[in-house]
Amino acid sequence: MATLELRNVNKSYGSGLVDTLKNIEISIDSGEFLILVGPSGCGKSTLMNCIAGLEDISGGAILVDDQDISGMSPKDRDIAMVFQS
Ligand SMILES: Nc1ncnc2c1ncn2[C@@H]1O[C@H](COP(=O)(O)OP(=O)(O)OP(=O)(O)O)[C@@H](O)[C@H]1O
Ligand SMILES: [Mg+2]
Repeated sequence: MATLELRNVNKSYGSGLVDTLKNIEISIDSGEFLILVGPSGCGKSTLMNCIAGLEDISGGAILVDDQDISGMSPKDRDIAMVFQS
């Protein structure tokens, strides 16, 4: 297991006029579960895609075991993901 930390993560698509993710701060210890719940379109999948590296973040940092993985390609992150459909 590993720790996961999101520091002030921001994400906007396209022109950047809309903040899809704004100032996301989450810290998950090794062995902890975190469940994201929210209405359709609130950004849950966007956040998962950013953690997995399938989408670039627009600001902030994502750390695994205190290492900044924000700029790493998906294959180098050692993160698994199951798509909802
Ligand atoms: N590739 C994309 N390009 C532009 N906008 C996008 C893209 N993907 C998602 N969005 C927009 O970002 C916002 C968040 O969408 P997202 O799919 O992350 O929400 P969600 O919480 O996973 O919703 P759901 O519960 O329906 O799965 C929505 O306004 C959506 O239209
Ligand atoms: Mg979704």
